[in-house]
Amino acid sequence: MSTDNRPIGIFDSGLGGLTVARAVAAALPHESILYVGDTQRCPYGTRSEDEVRSFVLQVGEWLARQDVKVMVIACNTATAAGLALAQQTFDVPVIGVIVPGARAAIHSTRSRKVGVLATELTVRSGAYTRAIQDFDAGVEVYGCPASCFVELVEGELAAGQHDSTRWLSGADVFDSPEVRELVDTTIAPLKGHGIDTVVLGCTHFPLLVGPIRAALGTGVRVVSSAEEITRELAEMLERRGELADADVVPAHHFATTSPNLEGFACAGRFIFGRDLGEVRHITLEELEHLG
Ligand code: DGL
Repeated sequence: MSTDNRPIGIFDSGLGGLTVARAVAAALPHESILYVGDTQRCPYGTRSEDEVRSFVLQVGEWLARQDVKVMVIACNTATAAGLALAQQTFDVPVIGVIVPGARAAIHSTRSRKVGVLATELTVRSGAYTRAIQDFDAGVEVYGCPASCFVELVEGELAAGQHDSTRWLSGADVFDSPEVRELVDTTIAPLKGHGIDTVVLGCTHFPLLVGPIRAALGTGVRVVSSAEEITRELAEMLERRGELADADVVPAHHFATTSPNLEGFACAGRFIFGRDLGEVRHITLEELEHLG
C-alpha cells in the first residue's frame, strides 16, 4: 500500500478554519498540516464573489507551490465562491466544506426543514440550498446571514482573554449578555418555520455554538462540517493510497497574511489546542503576484 507524507493544505479567511484543522489533526494523527489564514483580508463574507474567487486562486497557488497533497478550503465563503474554479485550476484535489456541511444537515433533520447560518456571501450564493437539495430535493432550506458573528469571533479572539480549556472541552467561551443579544437578534429569522437542524455554515461559528444553541432552544440540533469533512478527507486519502506513514510524527505549519504574527499564534493556539510554533508571514504583495 502506497503512502504520501506531504502535508494537507488547509485554508481559511482567518482563524475559523482552525476548527476544521483541529478536527483533521485529531482524526488523522499522522498527517502534517499546512494552514493558511488570510487574516489581513478577513472577512471574506461581505465581499463580492469575484474578489473572493481571486483570493482563492492566490492562496491556492501558494499552497500548490508548497507541494501539498490535497487542499481543503476550510471556509464556506471561499468554498461557495471559488471551489469549482480551484478544482479546475490546480492539479491536486481540492475539497470544500459545503457538501460535508449539507450532508451533516441531511443526516440530522427529521422535519426536513433546515436553517443555514452563514456569511452574507455564502447565503446569497445559494450554495448550501443546492448542496442540501442535491441530497434531498424535498428539504426546505432557510438561509440566515450572520457575518456579524465573524467580526465578533475575530474580535473576541484578538482580545485574548478567554479560557481555551473551556472551548477545548466543548463549553461555551464567548458568552455574555451582549453576545447573547446579538445572537438572538441575528438568528430570529430562523424561528417559526419548524426547523429542527441548523448548519453552522461558517467555520468561525463553532466558537459561538453555546449562545447559538441557547437562542435556538431545545429541539433544534446544531451541526457543522468539521467532522464530516474529516471523514471525507480520510476516505479520500485512503482510497488514493495517500495516507501518511503510520510511524510519521506530523509537523504542522501555520502561515498568515496578518503582520500580527503573535496575535495569530495566540488566538490560533486557543482554537487549535496546541502551540502553533513559528508562524510564517505571507505578504499580500507575494499573494497578488501569484493569482
Ligand atoms: N470562516 C469563513 C467561512 O467559513 C468566513 C469568514 C469571513 O467572512 O471571512 O465562511
